[in-house]
Amino acid sequence: LRNVPLFQDLTEEELRTISPLFQENKWNRGKLLFMEGDPGDELFVVKSGVVKIYRFDDEKEIILALFGPGDFFGEMAVIQPALNRSATAETLESCSIYTMKRSVFYEFMEKHPRICIKLLEVTVQRLRNANDQIYNLTFLDVRSRIIRTILRLAEERGVKLGDGLLVDIRMTHQQLASFAGTARESATKVLQELSEEGMIIVEKKRIFLPDHEKLKELAGL
Ligand code: CMP
Repeated sequence: LRNVPLFQDLTEEELRTISPLFQENKWNRGKLLFMEGDPGDELFVVKSGVVKIYRFDDEKEIILALFGPGDFFGEMAVIQPALNRSATAETLESCSIYTMKRSVFYEFMEKHPRICIKLLEVTVQRLRNANDQIYNLTFLDVRSRIIRTILRLAEERGVKLGDGLLVDIRMTHQQLASFAGTARESATKVLQELSEEGMIIVEKKRIFLPDHEKLKELAGL
């Protein structure tokens, strides 16, 4: 729990008191943790693996966020008990996940108000990302949307490798398309173009950015 930003200001002693209040579960890849519209009274914290947060209709899905080690989710239904889950959560890889019940989390926030400030910081950052997603979907063409999606992934989940950045998650073209709000065929086409231009190298579904700054320039950032 030391690596969870939400709890980063807690002392060793405080961490020791909350650790037993979490339940840890392990899930295989592709497990639905909950569906949009479900009632929910648990907060989730990712210990390892990646969770996909998305909404869908009969034909398409849009990925709202990916959460990895140290990230939390499920706070919306926890904070607004009258409302249900606002999106669906599914493991993208095998995951180890902690859960905490609403009553325990509330008691904890009351005792340690600094956690509320952290929660706000993260929520505000997520609102920024959601604003970017609205902007990108409204104003950008498909190529720019895919490039910005790759950049977001690199910034959120990139690991340094030589001079470049490796997005350390296996993303299918369909998933990348769902994140960028486009069709799989378009994602495939843009990925191919970017590979030919030397902007990305895709290996085993992982994207490597040899020159992150150059890709940013290409996206007008
Ligand atoms: P909750 O509504 O309980 O269940 C779905 C969770 O997905 C939600 O809580 C948030 O934790 C997360 N979530 C929903 N929408 C977004 C978004 N736009 N960006 C990041 N996370 C989100």
